[in-house]
Amino acid sequence: MNEEVFQKKIDSEQKIEPKDWMPDGYRKHLIRQISQHAHSEVIGMQPEGKWITRAPSLRAKMILLAKVQDEAGHGLYLYSACETLGITREELNEQLHQGKAKYSSIFNYPTLTWADMGAIGWLVDGAAIINQVSLQKTSYGPYSRGMIRICKEESFHQRQGYEIMTQMTQGTAEQKEMAQDALNRFWWPSIMMFGPHDADSPRTGNAMKWKIKRKTNDELRQNFIDKTVGQADLIGLKIPDPDLKWNEERGSYDFGEVDWDEFWNVVNGNGPCNKQRLNHHRKAHKDGEWVRDAIKAYAEKHK
Ligand code: 3HC
Repeated sequence: MNEEVFQKKIDSEQKIEPKDWMPDGYRKHLIRQISQHAHSEVIGMQPEGKWITRAPSLRAKMILLAKVQDEAGHGLYLYSACETLGITREELNEQLHQGKAKYSSIFNYPTLTWADMGAIGWLVDGAAIINQVSLQKTSYGPYSRGMIRICKEESFHQRQGYEIMTQMTQGTAEQKEMAQDALNRFWWPSIMMFGPHDADSPRTGNAMKWKIKRKTNDELRQNFIDKTVGQADLIGLKIPDPDLKWNEERGSYDFGEVDWDEFWNVVNGNGPCNKQRLNHHRKAHKDGEWVRDAIKAYAEKHK
C-alpha cells in the first residue's frame, strides 16, 4: 500500500519531505547521489583553491575566492539535505575517506595554468548548471530547494570562467594557446561529468521512475554540447573532437565517443589526482577537528 501511495505522490509531482514514508531504495539512492554531489562541491575547491594565491590580479583573486567560498556553501546545503535522510555528517565523511562514496571525476584532473580556472568555470560549472537546473525539479524537497539556491550562484561561476577564456583568447599568442590547451585538457573530462550512457547507467531507471532525475545523462550531455560549441566558436577556440558536427536533421551536434576506459579508471580511484585529493581532504578534516570540538563544547555549555 505504501509503495503505491508513494508512487502516486511522485507521479502527481508532489515533493517528498523528510517525514514522509519512502521506500528504502529511494532513501538509499538519494543518500548516495546527494552525498556524492556534496563531496564533489567540497573536493572541487581543491583544484581551484590552488590558484587563489597565483591569480594574475586582485580582481581575479577576489572573484576566484568568492567562487571557491560559494562551492563550500553548496557543499553545506547538500550535506544538510542529505542529513535529513537519516545519515550523519561524520558517516558521510567516513564514506568519502574510506573510498566508499564517489565524487565527480572532473576534480581528479590537475590545474596546470591560470587558463584552467577559465576552463573549469566555463565548462565544469557550465556542465553543472545543465545538470543542476534539471535537478531543481527533483522529487525530494530538501534536495530540490538546495538546488534552487545553488543554481542562483552557478551562472556567476560559469560567466567568470568564460570571461577568463575570452580575455586570454584576446591577449597574446601565448595566452590564446594557454586557453586552447586548457580546453583540450578539460573538454572530454567535462563531458564525462554527465555519467555513462543511459544504456550503461544502472541508476537511471529508478532515478527517472522516482523523478530524482528529470533528464537522463545523455540528454543532459547533449544539451551541454549544443550550448557550448557556439561559445567556443565565438572566442576562436576549437573543441578537441574531430567528430563534432552539426546534424541539421537532429538539430543537435553529433560528437565523438567518450573514452569510457579513462572514465571508469578515474571514477574507480585511479585518475591523475584521486589520491592527492583524498589525502588533502583527510588532512584538512583532521586539522579542523579542534574547531568542531570547540563548537560542540560551546554548544554543550550554552544549551
Ligand atoms: N564522476 C564520478 N562518479 C560518477 C560519474 C562522474 N562523472 N558519473 C557517474 N558516476 C557514478 C555514479 O555515482 C554511480 O555510482 P554509484 O552507483 O556508486 O553511486 C555510477 O557511476 C553509475 O552511474 P549512473 O549514471 O548509473 O549514476 P547516477 O544515476 O547517479 O548518475 C550523475 C550520475 C549524473 C553524476 C548523478 O549522480 C548526478 O546528477 N549527481 C548530482 C550532480 C553531481 O553530482 N554533479 C557533480 C558535479 S558538482 C559540481 O560540478 C559543482 C560545481 O559547482 C563545480
